[in-house]
Amino acid sequence: MKITVVGAGNVGATVADCIARKDMVKEVVLVDIVEGLPQGKALDMWEAAPIHGYDTRVIGTNDYADTAGSDLCIITAGLARKPGMSRDDLLVKNAAIVKSVTEQFVAQSPNAILIVVSNPLDVMTYVAYLTSGFPSRRVMGMAGVLDTARYRAFIAMELGVSVRDIQALLMGGHGDTMVPLPRYTTVAGIPLTQLLPKEKIDAIVERTKFGGGEIVKLMGTSAWYAPGAAAAEMAEAIIKDSGRVLPCAVWLNGQYGLHELFIGAPARLGRNGVEEIIEVELNDEEKALLDASAEHVRANVAKLEALQAAG
Ligand code: LAC
Repeated sequence: MKITVVGAGNVGATVADCIARKDMVKEVVLVDIVEGLPQGKALDMWEAAPIHGYDTRVIGTNDYADTAGSDLCIITAGLARKPGMSRDDLLVKNAAIVKSVTEQFVAQSPNAILIVVSNPLDVMTYVAYLTSGFPSRRVMGMAGVLDTARYRAFIAMELGVSVRDIQALLMGGHGDTMVPLPRYTTVAGIPLTQLLPKEKIDAIVERTKFGGGEIVKLMGTSAWYAPGAAAAEMAEAIIKDSGRVLPCAVWLNGQYGLHELFIGAPARLGRNGVEEIIEVELNDEEKALLDASAEHVRANVAKLEALQAAG
């Protein structure tokens, strides 16, 4: 099995590193347009292999020919946020980058599965889907795993419990309109709503929604450790055909009453990509929040199409 990671920036390098440490594939190819960068980072990772004890070969390249025959591709290419920018400010530039790398990758690996990480996430996943011509189950976006990880981390801190005991669901777009679902959050099976008062839960939900921005504000650029680990977790679910249920940006066409858009929903992942989209019951308030998030994603798609039409 072979995985390609497009983009050797902080997120791409962290994805490659996390995947290598899982020792689950023969080869990880890190590809970037910057000469020397993917080669250097990949060699550095491979030199760490004897210490970590993995046999996954990490290879860096500027040439998509080296990615040929990949089973899976994680697209991290694109500009990252600077302070004061929203993910949406990256729209047009990152759409052009995602389109170009998708074309180059797909020409070499027409049967692969794509995981998009570039922002604005839901729209970039749509761009990769359109560009690739792949069936929707082979295209998905990474965001829910990251956003639920942040949410779980904050809950663990508040309750002083192990992160491992927290199960959580979060839906919607990867942005300020994301929808953490406290009703579907448990600590070792105990509903969160029985463990924390509403004000505390609301505060955690708010912090989660702006979790990416909190990090941009602190260090002047966007996060990579948690985003990289999140993409690698999705890759593992696919490569191992584990059937893990993870929140991902998936193509909805009727589920949740939403049609023809990528947005976060719980999905069962396996060797074919998105094996199933799971529909949970939402109350009126939760559905309204999901609808508002879907509207935001749709508005961004429309904005991108208008800007592209204007040239
Ligand atoms: C974040 C970026 C990766 O949420 O969107 O940190």
